[in-house]
Amino acid sequence: MKKMSIKNNVSWVGKIDWELRRFHGNEYSTHRGSTYNSYLIKENKVALIDTVWGPFAREYVDNLSAVIPLDQIDYVIANHGETDHSGALPELMRRIPDKPVYCTANGVKSLKGQYHQNWNFQVVKTGDQLDLGGKKLIFVEAPMLHWPDSMFCYLTGDNILFSNDAFGQHYASEYLYNDLVDQEELMAECIKYYANILTPFSPLVGKKIKEVLALNLPVDIICTSHGVIWRSNPTRIVEKYLEWAANYKENQITILYDTMWEGTRIMAEHIAHGIKSSDQDVNVKLFNVSKSDKNDVITEVFKSKGIVVGSPTINRGILTAVASILEEIKGLRFGGKKAAVFGSYGWSGESTKILSEHLEQSEFQMVGDGLRVLWNPDEEGIRQCFEFGQKLSGQLA
Ligand code: FEO
Repeated sequence: MKKMSIKNNVSWVGKIDWELRRFHGNEYSTHRGSTYNSYLIKENKVALIDTVWGPFAREYVDNLSAVIPLDQIDYVIANHGETDHSGALPELMRRIPDKPVYCTANGVKSLKGQYHQNWNFQVVKTGDQLDLGGKKLIFVEAPMLHWPDSMFCYLTGDNILFSNDAFGQHYASEYLYNDLVDQEELMAECIKYYANILTPFSPLVGKKIKEVLALNLPVDIICTSHGVIWRSNPTRIVEKYLEWAANYKENQITILYDTMWEGTRIMAEHIAHGIKSSDQDVNVKLFNVSKSDKNDVITEVFKSKGIVVGSPTINRGILTAVASILEEIKGLRFGGKKAAVFGSYGWSGESTKILSEHLEQSEFQMVGDGLRVLWNPDEEGIRQCFEFGQKLSGQLA
């Protein structure tokens, strides 16, 4: 697909990447691929909003030149400098080197830092407008949604918000509209994207959305830079973001662990039985983090009111898979969640203390001192795990 009409003179001219399985290097799993959305607005003046990831630069610019002679583009808008949206700029600007590139001051730093080019940068701030000959683009800086250089822009007349990464998902679809795709898949990708990318910035997300809503601009369509375009009830995703930004939690307890010789796995399962025996309604999920997709696990942590983390002791430390997910959790700065720890041991038994320290540093509210069981749990050890779980069901509420 080279071009898809969205409304009046606005078209999608991006790239659907069905093959993508890893994003941000290897940091983010993309089970359903992604899209890099780029938009062309052909009013009296012609504006291009964002481009695509570098590996598709040539294909993108060739396609774009089939849609419009490139010298007819008056303005290039770079809402965000990250390379999945700016990667085709070098190829594009090689062909139209003098055209102005509109971005934030931080956008200039980011684009210059990556591509080492002195393009005709035009720095914009919140409230600045670009006249397209009747309709206007209004710029809104959106720092830390999710980079310091991020911004939105809004097209008057057509009432379209171009939100860049905000409200996006890594979700490849030829439909490209929110009302046409599988709703469960869509919302699963939305919450995963929020949990893994936007969680650290939740206080700013809530604030920025309220600031944009206060502008009282009618929004008929939200054009994101990844995944579907929100044309049916676009406020639904905005409301979801407000909900997710406010220390979101469901009635879920997630148990994360790794195990060497099954002792810690047995503990995890009996802790889960204990929790369920005290609370039939709570959704208890278990993940051996060494066998699970990291980003899917993070999404489950995001949905949880509490987590229980387990590792046996190895070399006076914890297993690396658990250490790795705890490092990820620390960076994401979840708010308003509780945590407890457990682990089996054979000799020195430091794991629970180390797990507690990690989680305290990550601002989880710790409950109890954790549970240690020597060697593989026997009948008494299993009883302790079960009772530990029973107590946790109340403590993690
Ligand atoms: Fe989709 Fe922050 O780039």
